[in-house]
Amino acid sequence: MAADTGATSGARPSSATETTGSRGGLLGPMRGTPAIQTQGLRKIYGHGKAAKTALNGLDLTVERGEVFGFLGPNGAGKTTTIRLLLDLLRPSAGRISVLGEDPRSRPELRRRIGYLAGDFVVDGRQTGADLLAYLGRLRGGVDRERVAALAERLDLDTSRRISGLSKGNRQKIGVVQAFMHAPELLILDEPTSGLDPFLQQQFVELVQEAKAGGQTVFMSSHVMSEVQATCDRVGIIRGGELAAVEQVEGLRQRAFRKIEITFAQPVDPAEFAGLAGVSDVTADGPVVRCRLAGTADELVKTAARHTVVDLLSEEPELEELFFAYYAHGEGSRR
Ligand SMILES: Nc1ncnc2c1ncn2[C@@H]1O[C@H](COP(=O)(O)OP(=O)(O)OP(=O)(O)O)[C@@H](O)[C@H]1O
Ligand SMILES: [Mg+2]
Repeated sequence: MAADTGATSGARPSSATETTGSRGGLLGPMRGTPAIQTQGLRKIYGHGKAAKTALNGLDLTVERGEVFGFLGPNGAGKTTTIRLLLDLLRPSAGRISVLGEDPRSRPELRRRIGYLAGDFVVDGRQTGADLLAYLGRLRGGVDRERVAALAERLDLDTSRRISGLSKGNRQKIGVVQAFMHAPELLILDEPTSGLDPFLQQQFVELVQEAKAGGQTVFMSSHVMSEVQATCDRVGIIRGGELAAVEQVEGLRQRAFRKIEITFAQPVDPAEFAGLAGVSDVTADGPVVRCRLAGTADELVKTAARHTVVDLLSEEPELEELFFAYYAHGEGSRR
């Protein structure tokens, strides 16, 4: 396996080889390479009769600057993939490139990554501030004010001993340490597990800011609302294989949205039944409700024959579509 041979010592030019358009090559140092790329990635745990194939030839590409959601049922292989990307596990076969580097051969790569483990465990008599300062030094120095600002946003008291913190408060430390050095790439394994809804919203904003700042985010999640609010693309993994990769915007356009139109006078709902993309039309006096998939053109033009007092269009819930992938694996493989 070619990935095994990388040397750890050779200094490479950091930005001199910047290229555009060359995103295909694995293991190249160029900035034009994807943030994450795996080819034929396999992981088999154990040996002989106890062998368990966790990943069965995973081909995954995450572009720089995108937020990529990694979804799939329990046991699908998400954590295994993430641990392989961090070189915490070694692949049984296949190749991995992270920020254009082989994670195995470049230990200093770790400083350019913010990683939150799915089983992020901290304990001890030290305070949160002490631990974060220690981890900050490992990352090559971190702005203390940024750490303090992150802690405040997450309502984390860093002066308290970690041993006295609740599970959720420990998870906050995990979030802070992943984001605090503004890494090029964030790899987050179920980042909001154990966090309350307010903190989940804070997390969504952190991810949106990271994206606005050009950082790349790769995260596994079971929280559909946070995926919908943050991700550009989602990959669905089942049984160690990539079942689908979808643009979230494409899913959004295909998803049903609920529409409610209030007219000045009652209208005949039959006018709306049969329009392109329109279904489940009901009327309640002057209010017509329906579901819409795709373009609103016919619906709007038909409504405009009457006096429209109000029009409500709900943001579509992607949860139903995601569930379909979880259960049946519909959709194309890319
Ligand atoms: N250390 C291990 N030894 C043996 N099998 C393992 C080990 N770690 C994971 N597995 C198996 O590999 C498969 C993938 O596990 P993994 O933890 O990657 O799933 P996951 O997608 O992260 O699931 P979850 O949503 O529950 O976190 C599972 O069948 C699991 O039982
Ligand atoms: Mg997991």
